[in-house]
Amino acid sequence: MLTVDDLKNLQGKKVYVRVDFNVPHKGDVISDDNRIRAAIPTLAHLLKQGARLVVMSHLGKVEWKKLKKGEKTQEEIDAQMKKNCMCICVEPLKKHISEAMGRDVNVVFCKENRGPVLKEAVDNLKDGEILLVQNTRYQPGEEKNDPELSKEWASLVDAFVMDAFGSAHRAHASTYGVPECLKAEGKPVAEGYLMIKEVDNLSRCVEVKPEDRPYVAILGGLKVSDKIKVIDSLLKKCDLVIIGGAMAYTFKKALGENIGDSFCEDASLDYAKKCLEEAKGRILLPIDSVITNQFEEGDREIRVVEGDIPEGFQGVDIGPKTREAYAKAIAGAKMVFWNGPMGVFEQKDFQAGTIAVCEAISKLEGKAFSVIGGGDSASAAKQLGYKEKFSHVSTGGGASLEMIELDGKIPGVEILR
Ligand code: 3PG
Repeated sequence: MLTVDDLKNLQGKKVYVRVDFNVPHKGDVISDDNRIRAAIPTLAHLLKQGARLVVMSHLGKVEWKKLKKGEKTQEEIDAQMKKNCMCICVEPLKKHISEAMGRDVNVVFCKENRGPVLKEAVDNLKDGEILLVQNTRYQPGEEKNDPELSKEWASLVDAFVMDAFGSAHRAHASTYGVPECLKAEGKPVAEGYLMIKEVDNLSRCVEVKPEDRPYVAILGGLKVSDKIKVIDSLLKKCDLVIIGGAMAYTFKKALGENIGDSFCEDASLDYAKKCLEEAKGRILLPIDSVITNQFEEGDREIRVVEGDIPEGFQGVDIGPKTREAYAKAIAGAKMVFWNGPMGVFEQKDFQAGTIAVCEAISKLEGKAFSVIGGGDSASAAKQLGYKEKFSHVSTGGGASLEMIELDGKIPGVEILR
């Protein structure tokens, strides 16, 4: 696989860089530009080589079904998107890219992502300039990996660099079709620095070396059904799988415990039962839980219970005995993979479980390899002030989980080989 360092003679060359700038936002306001900053080393390196960069990303999800048919212009699509979808125009990213790159770099925004306007904007690019192209998902062909769209985007450039780890599990036109076309034409496709770091670190959690044992996975989150393939894969690779968060209650119900009003996925009960049988003691479940009679903050009762949860109450965090037991299990690990908070960490009352896991992993600093698989657990570690204590915090939620599920063979990585 080529890396960005293998690309030579870039002076005046147009390079398509797929980044994942799908950052948290409320309308046009970006609340966390971590993903933008994570891709800067690749952009800076390419610009230093004299390349002209065509930078593409998606931002949000499109619900095409909600869009009125017959919308034609980009403005009309944009207005519809804003009204109906979480998918928005990427122009607000321009300011963040400029700030992160430093004052000398010129970032130009192109509001069209197809056709003559885009072609002209690419042709007008100067050495050392960045063209930020409109949201890839404004094209219906993007998510379908439409060959015509891929061909058009590929025709604009001389090389492709993939630095969108967070989107590398998507075989879309911008992540898969474009490099496929360029490869067929004998043009170089390479991975950027962020991709290299992500793939190296997550591959270590996939191809487990003897010195990385005991290998402990910590899983949380809401639904068992979202994580079935990950659980299957981790049970094959790990010495211990620790379960917390709402999904623990599906497992507890599968064991015949009364879980009160806790979230439970009845359709996953058989699966949970099967896992527990096959794991032969390698799955740890909460011993006690923090429970409440009201999810929303305010006038509510909060208790700690061991075993059955009374009707009218739901589990919202792991309890003190569980925190202690989980911390002990983590302390013995040589490698840890964590995905999913232990409780409703957004609320102060229910943060203790997630903090305990962060603390336990922090104590492994310098002694074990620890990875957060993106998403909510990465936000939790950041919010609670533990992010720097981990060996690697992935920028990709879904992508890091699919790396585990598919033994590292995700489409956005495979196409670069
Ligand atoms: C992410 O945020 O996980 C990536 O940007 C992928 O986004 P998606 O789930 O909308 O494809």
